Amino acid sequence: MKKIVVTRKIPAEFLDQLENLGEVEVWNSEYEPMPRERFLTEIKDATACLITLSERIDQEVFEAAPHLKVIANMAVGYDNIDLQLASRHDVIVTNTPSVLTEATAELGVTLTLSVARKVIEAQDYVKQGKWQSWGPYLFAGKDLHGATVGIFGMGDIGKAYARRLTGFNTTILYHNRSRHLQAEQELGARYVDFETLLKESDFVVCTAPLTSETENKFDRAAFNQMKNDAIFINIGRGPIVDEEALVEALKHNEIAACGLDVLREEPIRMDHPLLDMEQAVILPHIGSATKETRDNMIQLCVDNIEGVLQRGEAKTQVND
Ligand code: DGY
Repeated sequence: MKKIVVTRKIPAEFLDQLENLGEVEVWNSEYEPMPRERFLTEIKDATACLITLSERIDQEVFEAAPHLKVIANMAVGYDNIDLQLASRHDVIVTNTPSVLTEATAELGVTLTLSVARKVIEAQDYVKQGKWQSWGPYLFAGKDLHGATVGIFGMGDIGKAYARRLTGFNTTILYHNRSRHLQAEQELGARYVDFETLLKESDFVVCTAPLTSETENKFDRAAFNQMKNDAIFINIGRGPIVDEEALVEALKHNEIAACGLDVLREEPIRMDHPLLDMEQAVILPHIGSATKETRDNMIQLCVDNIEGVLQRGEAKTQVND
């Protein structure tokens, strides 16, 4: 009997499908990951696992799991998994591209507008009973319409974000490893080098994945080059940003504000200086968090596990 480890609570309809493939061991918590020790124990005799980005898949895991054939990661990003080791151990790794693109882009736009229009601060002001009267510049924010928006990372999510911006009459710049001529033609996006993106954008939006090239890309020098009234948004991965540099940039008004859906350490430590900064809007990594999208992500994980266990192939394999 094949064993499938599921590290979070998922709806019964998906567990039913997995139970047709083998014996399922599920960690029944929605908000806390399966403890590492428990995961290492459960994975020992497992053939497949459905994990989230909270699980770090490294040498220790592969050594503990000699029968493992497939790791279905419930995320498009897979920086939590050592892909080379996976291939060396003949384990197929899969992700969930496409199904989360639109929801993540929608959250990106939501975060951009929330920061630009100080929506969270304004709501707190009302709920704390501070609202006395209408004021000419009360919570006066920054226009998105007519602004220059620089997108770092023009993958599927970057393009879906840019597509939404076309309705705001913005100038769209982008920087990416390679050019996307279709995005340039269809969205009017202009490819620029990283420095130009930083210098010319009113909004700098990171949608990139975490790689050795993007890690710490937004460092002190990067924030220094941005406009003093620029807004920085990150819906990619936390370690792309040097958070100390970001805190300094906000403190010294080198940039105006930021919106972060992703952080270097998740969950954020409660003594993190960003939490005390009014100019920082911080969300708990909810880019793809709509009911429909999360269902689709889990279904794709289940399909991938089924594909590997029954036919030796997955829909969305990421390793060679
Ligand atoms: C992803 O899929 O990589 C997201 O960050 C998780 O929602």
